[in-house]
Amino acid sequence: MSAPATALRPLAPTPLPAAEVEAARARLGAASAPEILRWIDERFGDRAAIASSFGVEDCVLIDLARTHAPRLQIFTLDTGRLHPETYEVMEAVRKRYGVEIRSYFPERAAVEALEAEHGFFSFRDSLEARKACCGLRKVEPLGRALAGRDAWVTGLRREQSPTRTGVDVLELDAAHGGIAKLNPLASWTASQVWRYVKEHGVPYNALHDQGFPSIGCAPCTRAIKPYEDLRAGRWWWENPENKECGLHVHR
Ligand code: ADX
Ligand code: SF4
Repeated sequence: MSAPATALRPLAPTPLPAAEVEAARARLGAASAPEILRWIDERFGDRAAIASSFGVEDCVLIDLARTHAPRLQIFTLDTGRLHPETYEVMEAVRKRYGVEIRSYFPERAAVEALEAEHGFFSFRDSLEARKACCGLRKVEPLGRALAGRDAWVTGLRREQSPTRTGVDVLELDAAHGGIAKLNPLASWTASQVWRYVKEHGVPYNALHDQGFPSIGCAPCTRAIKPYEDLRAGRWWWENPENKECGLHVHR
């Protein structure tokens, strides 16, 4: 059996040199998603990875990457609280594209301590408690997933929420050593995403057909009404400006 790909990565990440950043921004700002992915593949190869929660945007990215950035790796942060439908689509994607999907789990001892001290739904108690749970189940594992990588790729779109209107195609991720963070679908609309899914027969999470445009952990995600905004079903008891788990920090 081959060693996990991460074993080959040196520990120190290599941020994009400052001299390259502006030129890359100018080149990628108005580029199409396939062009952006081709650039990522040429520039970073297997030192970049797609972070996938297996929402529809991430499934589109994986489909595009098979053609335009075949060396990109794929990882997911398995919080332990995902919907069964999410595991179904993970498996469907794995089989359809023949790709390796690397799961990163939270630290076992930290989850055991959290549940022993605060119960199984501590995230309902306060914003602070919710952020502590996201910190432990998502943000800390993301740090491990990115260790030694030079770039990561997300399915973020500007249209998704007021907290995401400033998303750029190329960002520098200060929280992870200044490595590149690329958002090839930043300018895509929901209609463009779904048109791509239909045209290419991309597998997607069954919950999207049950009123869930945005899917996170099961206890913190619900279906929305037609007039509600795309992320209204995420942490629905919180104000819109708080609806981030800490993976993405935007202006
Ligand atoms: S979240 O921060 O509120 O959870 P959202 O669900 O909209 O974000 O996803 C935005 C992007 O963050 C996804 O396209 C994906 O790149 C990344 N992401 C979110 N959750 C995960 C996860 N569990 N595993 C890997 N990547 C994730
Ligand atoms: Fe915890 Fe909910 Fe955040 Fe998942 S979305 S990590 S269950 S607070």
